This record gives sequence, structure tokens and C-alpha cells, in this order.
Amino acid sequence: MKTPISDFIEEYKSKDPLRFHTPGHKGVGSLGYETEDITEIAGADSLYFASGIIEESEQNASKLFGSYKTFYSCEGSSLSIRAMLYLAMTNRKAQQGNFVLATRNAHSSFITASQLLGFDVEWIFGEKSYLSSDLTEEKLEKVLGSVDILPFALYVTSPDYLGNMLDIEALSRVCKKYGILLLVDNAHGAYLKFLTPSLHPLDLGADMCCDSAHKTLPVLTGGGYLHISKANPALARGAKGALALFGSTSPSYLILNSLDRANAYLESGYVQRLNDFVSLANDAKKHLRVSGFEVLVSEPLKLVIATKSIGYYGYELGSLLEKMNIYPEFYDRDFIVFMLSPEKPESLLALESALLSLVRKPAIRENAPKVMQAKKLLTPREALFCQKEDVSIDDANGRILGASAISCPPAVSLVVCGEMINDDIISACKYYGIKSLTVIR
Ligand SMILES: Cc1ncc(COP(=O)(O)O)c(C=O)c1O
Repeated sequence: MKTPISDFIEEYKSKDPLRFHTPGHKGVGSLGYETEDITEIAGADSLYFASGIIEESEQNASKLFGSYKTFYSCEGSSLSIRAMLYLAMTNRKAQQGNFVLATRNAHSSFITASQLLGFDVEWIFGEKSYLSSDLTEEKLEKVLGSVDILPFALYVTSPDYLGNMLDIEALSRVCKKYGILLLVDNAHGAYLKFLTPSLHPLDLGADMCCDSAHKTLPVLTGGGYLHISKANPALARGAKGALALFGSTSPSYLILNSLDRANAYLESGYVQRLNDFVSLANDAKKHLRVSGFEVLVSEPLKLVIATKSIGYYGYELGSLLEKMNIYPEFYDRDFIVFMLSPEKPESLLALESALLSLVRKPAIRENAPKVMQAKKLLTPREALFCQKEDVSIDDANGRILGASAISCPPAVSLVVCGEMINDDIISACKYYGIKSLTVIR
């Protein structure tokens, strides 16, 4: 597969040009990659008006992912999510309401999309951790079968931060039956395309999905995709405009270059490398289970351990490992999450032996709070434009949340802006170490 963006940059670099354009470093500096950091000069195409090398590279990505069209994002899935919701909203059918049905474990960029675009959200709560959803075909059928007005889309996060995957194929059947779009936050699952068989949401019936290429593929941070399914090509019509609506006019060519090169990389032997690595990862998970670790069932490239059964809080285990120069993706009171990769398979063995060397302690008997439902008094957008103040968690009962209380990772809210804070939410916040909240004045 050709790499038109990469080739252009290499050629430009080799000419040692006089750069009278941005960026201000002019191709020199101590970072080492300034020569490759260019902007939308002649021949370099333009991300949101692509008709040259970027368009060609995006077409390569579309082929690779089997999409109708794949568009690049230099601002991760966060940008693709906003664009995807704008596209879904502008394709809303007359009889559908201005709201999205969404699983509650949505990333904060979904909530900011709702605030920016003004659609409302009907949440589907689950029984599991606030980070995961247990939405099934039957449950979705029940929800959609009982509403007076249909939403314009179902929005689900799969895989989620704990590696839980929903049955996208089954959910897609229900969405088709009710004529609503299925949008998947596949930020954690770009690699699913290259499993045998593919578990990528586009192959399972999603109309659109976002992938953070940078999370699981060898792509620089910020690199992502917005994919449009062949089943719904009309959605592609406004996609560039939708991305431009929220994105910077100065896309990073370092990121575009890495997305471009990833196409060639993924096309040549990656399927084999990934699938071989998945076997290794499965073996490691088995060894850990046999040795007493509570390893969650998860998507292949995540290792998720419920740590209390070996006597540690997730954050305790996290800092122990950091002292051993091992850095997990995420940990909280209950879990520690490692993102595995075929790029450096030997790290997996080092991680496994570090985990096996840990001193086991008596189990910590403490349950995480149940997922709590809060009363919605304002839409997320209404809450956005209110005056706010910060209050101690002990003074938050009865107040309305004004701004998200959880940073990234995992950027999944226990309570959403516009909802009333109650005792259960206060206990949950305390459980997760949240000491103050931003509330509406
Ligand atoms: C589930 C989920 N969706 C979306 C995002 C946003 O992705 P990005 O960081 O690529 O913008 C994240 C980031 O952590 C995420 O975990």
C-alpha cells in the first residue's frame, strides 16, 4: 500500500527548502522531528478539503477497514465522536426525537457533544461497574419497544475501559428493526479489524464508529478515524464538514504521517503478528488465573485484574508496579488495566513475571458502589451555560452537577451535568476519591 503523505514529507525534507510558512520552528530545533512537522503547503493537501495526498491516504485506510469512507482525525476519537453525532443528528428522520439512547458508560466527549450540539440523552443504566454496560439485544428491544418517540441513534461504548465488549451484531439487528442509527465508540478497538475473524464494529453492523488509532495501533497520540459503513454511504456526505466544525485548522502532519504509514504497516503481515500475539496474551491470562489472579474476561488486548482478591487496591498495585518501572494504562480502587500490544511482545512476559512475584495478601472485602441513577433536572447543554461554583463533596447533596467530576482516564461520569446529586452519589464519589464537585449556583 502506498504512503503518499509520508512520501511527500520525505521529498520536501530532502529539498531542504526555505520555509516561509508555519510552524515557527522552520524545520530546525532540538526535538528532532521538526523537519517532518509541516503544514498545509502546496502539494500537502488540506485535511478538511482533501483532494490530494490526504484523500489518497484516507482511501487506503477505507480499503483497509472495509468502510465506505474512513476519515482521519488528528484529535483522537474525541473529535470523531462529536462529528459522528453531528452527522447522525443532521440525518435525523422526521418522526424521531432530538435525543440519543446511550449506555451510561459514555466517555466525556459524548457528553460534550450533547452540550455543543444540543441533543438530549436517554441513558441505559447497567448493573455492572459504572465503567461497563450490560446492554443486550433483549434489553434494547424492551427499551425501544416501549418508547413513544424513537431516538435518532443508539450510542454504545464497546470495548470499554475494562475491556468489556457488547454484542454489536445483535444490537445492530434491533437498531435496523426500529430504523435508528447504531453509533459505536470503538476508541479502544481499532485493532479488532485485524483479528480473525474481525470483531470491528463496522463488520458487525455499526453505521458509524470512531477508533482511536493511537490507542491500540502503532500511531502517534491523537491519530484517529471516523468510519462510515458501506451500509449507510449517505452519512459520508457531510463528514469532512462535521470534523471541521470541531477540529483545529492546523492538523498535525506528524500525526497524519503516522496514520499514513500505519496503512502500509497494517497491510503487511499485521494480521499474523496480532493473532500470534493474542495467543500469547491468552496464555498469560491463563497463567495469571491459575496463580490466583482475578483476571476479567475482556477483549484480547486488555489485561484487567480485579485486585482486591489478592489483597490490593488497584491504585496500590499500580504504584507498586510503577516503582518496578511498569506503567499501567489505568487503575482505580477495584481494577488495574494494562493495554497489551504486539509491538513489543517481550513486555508481556516481563509484566507477567512482575505480577507473579507480588506478595499475596488477604482479600479486601469491600464492594464497589452500585451504579446509581440520578434525577435529571437540566439537559447537559442547559447545565453548561449556568453559573457554577465548587463545593466540598459533603455539601453537595441536593445540588445539580455543573461540570464533569472525573478526569481522563477513564473520563466516564458517575453523575452527569444537569443531574441532582444525592446521598448515593456522594458515597460513590467518596469511594473513588472525589473530594469536591462543581455545581450550579
Ligand atoms: C471509551 C473512550 N472513548 C473516547 C475516548 C477519547 O479518545 P481520544 O483520546 O482518542 O480522543 C477515550 C479516551 O480515553 C475513551 O476511553
